[in-house]
Amino acid sequence: MASGQDKIPAKMTAIAISEPGGPRVLKPETRDVPVPGPGEILIRVRAAGINRPDVQQRKGVYPPPPGASDLPGLEASGEVAALGDEISRWRVGDRVCALTPGGGYAEYVKVHAGSVLPLPAGFTHTEAAAVPENYFTVWHNVFERGALKSGETLLVHGGSSGIGTTAIQLASAFGAHVITTAGSQEKCDACLKLGADRAINYREEDFVAAVKDATGGKGANVILDMVGGDYVVRNYEAAAVEGRIVQIATQSGAVASTDFSKMMAKRLTHTGSMLRPRTVEFKAAIAAALEAQVWPLLGTRKVAPVMDMIFPLREAWRAHERMEDGDHIGKIVLDVG
Ligand SMILES: NC(=O)c1ccc[n+]([C@@H]2O[C@H](COP(=O)([O-])OP(=O)(O)OC[C@H]3O[C@@H](n4cnc5c(N)ncnc54)[C@H](OP(=O)(O)O)[C@@H]3O)[C@@H](O)[C@H]2O)c1
Repeated sequence: MASGQDKIPAKMTAIAISEPGGPRVLKPETRDVPVPGPGEILIRVRAAGINRPDVQQRKGVYPPPPGASDLPGLEASGEVAALGDEISRWRVGDRVCALTPGGGYAEYVKVHAGSVLPLPAGFTHTEAAAVPENYFTVWHNVFERGALKSGETLLVHGGSSGIGTTAIQLASAFGAHVITTAGSQEKCDACLKLGADRAINYREEDFVAAVKDATGGKGANVILDMVGGDYVVRNYEAAAVEGRIVQIATQSGAVASTDFSKMMAKRLTHTGSMLRPRTVEFKAAIAAALEAQVWPLLGTRKVAPVMDMIFPLREAWRAHERMEDGDHIGKIVLDVG
C-alpha cells in the first residue's frame, strides 16, 4: 500500500449477513479493515446506498461474485483513506463515491480505482452514496445497450424505484419521451414530477393499451424492464417497430412463455445484463462516460437522486425492512458517520 496506512485502524464495524433470512440477520460485526492492492483505493465510508440486489443477497439467492467481499453494499461515498500501488488520479482525503463489488455496509471499503468518481458538485455524502449503482446500471442498459436517442420513447417499469427514478430523469434530460409504470397514485405522481410524460398505475390500467394510447399506436422504442414473467410478452406488444427491450431483473419470474411472432414482425431486440459480475475495465469505461456526460447534470441538479430515508449503519435491518415494505420512492441510504 502506498500511503495513508498510519491513520487507519486495524478493525472496523461492518454489517454482515449472519445467515440467509429476513432483515434481522443483518448484524454489526467487527472486521479487519481491508488493505487495498495494486489499482485499488481504500475509502473511509460516510454513507452507503441500499439496493434491491442487497435484499436478494441477504436472502441467500444472490451470492457475491468470486473475490468480492461477503459483506453487502454495492455503492458508497466517503474520503480516500489509502492508496494501493499504481494509483495516479486520487489523493488521500479526496471526496469520492464508488461502485463497490460488495462491502459498502462498513466503515471502510476497498474498490478498484476505475469504479471511483468524484463527489458531484455540491452533493452531501448521503446523496452521493445514492448515485453509483443506479447511474451505472441505467447508463449502460438504457443508453448503451438500449441505444435510446433524443425524440424516442422510453417505457420504464418500476418508475418509483431507485433505478426507475434515475431512468426517468436521465432519459428526460437527454430529450426522450418517458412513459412509466408504478403501483400507486402517489408513486405515479412522483414519477410525473421527475419528468415522466405519462405514469401508468399498473394495478388499475393495462400498460400495453396505455403505451399505445400515449404513442399514437406506435409503441415504445426502448423498454427497461425489472419485472419479467408475464411482462415479457406484454413488453413485445408495447414495443415499437425496431424496439429494444432491456431486462435488468425478473421480479415476477425468470421463466416466461412468449409469442415470438411479435418479435419477428416488429424486428425487436430483447437483451439484458447484470452489472455486478462485469470486469473492472468495463465499469471504468462506464465511469468515464458518466463523468463526461452525467456529472455536469448532477452538478447543476438537472438530475439528482430521489432521497427516500436515511438510517444509521447499525440499523441496516430497518433500511431493508423499508425496502421490502415497498412504500419507498427513490433511494434508501445508510449514514455511516
Ligand atoms: N441488472 C442489473 O445490473 C441491476 C442493477 C441494479 C438493480 N437491478 C434491479 O433493478 C430493480 C430495481 O432495483 P432498485 O434497487 O431500484 O429497487 P427498488 O427501489 O426496491 O425497486 C423495485 C421496484 O420493482 C417494482 N416491482 C416489483 N414487483 C413488481 C411487479 N410485479 N410489477 C411491477 N413492478 C414491480 C416496484 O414497483 P411498485 O412498488 O410500484 O410495485 C419497485 O419500484 C431490482 O429488481 C434490482 O434487482 C438490476
